[in-house]
Amino acid sequence: MSGLLGGARNAVNPLRQLTIDQLRQRTSLKWREYPDDVLPLWVAEMDVPLAEPVARAITDAVARGDTGYTAGTAYPQALAEFARRRWGWDGLAVERTALVPDVMHGVIEALRVVTEPGDAVVVNCPVYPPFYEFVAHAGRRIVEAPLGEDLRIDLGALEDAFRQARAGGRPAAYLLCNPHNPTGVLHTADELAAVASLAERHGVRVVADEIHAPVVVGGGRFVPYLSVPGAENGLSLMSASKGWNLAGLRGALLIAGPAAAGDLARVPVDVSVSTSHLGVIAHTAAFRDGGEWLDALLTGLDDNRRLLAALLAEHLPAIRYRPGQATYLAWLDCRALGLGDDPATVFLDRGQVALNSGLAFGTGGGGHVRLNLATAPELITEAVRRMATAVA
Ligand SMILES: Cc1ncc(COP(=O)(O)O)c(C=O)c1O
Repeated sequence: MSGLLGGARNAVNPLRQLTIDQLRQRTSLKWREYPDDVLPLWVAEMDVPLAEPVARAITDAVARGDTGYTAGTAYPQALAEFARRRWGWDGLAVERTALVPDVMHGVIEALRVVTEPGDAVVVNCPVYPPFYEFVAHAGRRIVEAPLGEDLRIDLGALEDAFRQARAGGRPAAYLLCNPHNPTGVLHTADELAAVASLAERHGVRVVADEIHAPVVVGGGRFVPYLSVPGAENGLSLMSASKGWNLAGLRGALLIAGPAAAGDLARVPVDVSVSTSHLGVIAHTAAFRDGGEWLDALLTGLDDNRRLLAALLAEHLPAIRYRPGQATYLAWLDCRALGLGDDPATVFLDRGQVALNSGLAFGTGGGGHVRLNLATAPELITEAVRRMATAVA
């Protein structure tokens, strides 16, 4: 590592590096779904250049022609060390991990080993829309446990959902989103321990999607689900995809608690083999060497969160925004604007700004939009200006 030089370069806010003209040259979903007069602040991609250690690892691999099948344990080792450094958690055992092609395919494989077709999967709505689609595709049923008014897990609603899911003694799973997308809520150790104890009492298996774990700001601390008491038979999915914008370089890890090692062994071997070697190289480099870059990103995201809150207070005070401590997503309650169930359509049609419609996030999503904060402050300012124009 180039010592001081590297440090100085990495301290630069990655969210301020690219111009809109450069971003419009991108060919990925965020910048290609809508015409050029639309400002896209929707899908969870970040408007950042690739972190230098990741770019170097990939280009070195390409230069070597190192594009075969993936091998070894460098990825889980790098994540285990990251977990120790960042979260003070030393419970990630490399031998209880499996490579999976990406987080959602890992979620599905985990659900397949702990439930049977037709069984229920509990989710805390509103939640990341593919939870609904992937679970249905795997032939499982969704049971919703709505978040509370405070956007936190409502243990009473969760218990009701667990009872419903386990009716007739069938196996059931709980797909926990930790931290939560779209609200950005960071679950506390106490909340997660309560979840584990409830799951244990009702015989529900917990699968935790922890893809947003590295993206925590405002003095918050991510608590891995598997680190809380009672979570020994849990399964977790982690990846560098969100923290370092690696959706195009896919690769994730399925991690088993000590009492779930047997479940991990039942994941078909072809699942791990389907993982991209270049993806694994990228994710490994991110967790191993991408800490400084991540810190610079998190500082920029924290600024953006405050900027959005200030802009909304000034230009759209009817929108309710409760900044969470995690993810780069802002969940905006637009119901007081009187735009109906789908304000995203109004902001798109009248303001040329693309946000995610809350409707796709399940019960409780109506009247809400999700805004992606992982962009330049100027674009957030422009987005709010457009949103205000749309409702003027
Ligand atoms: C909660 C959550 N899980 C999974 C994913 C997708 O992960 P992957 O592309 O690795 O399947 C996302 C992407 O935004 C997400 O927010």
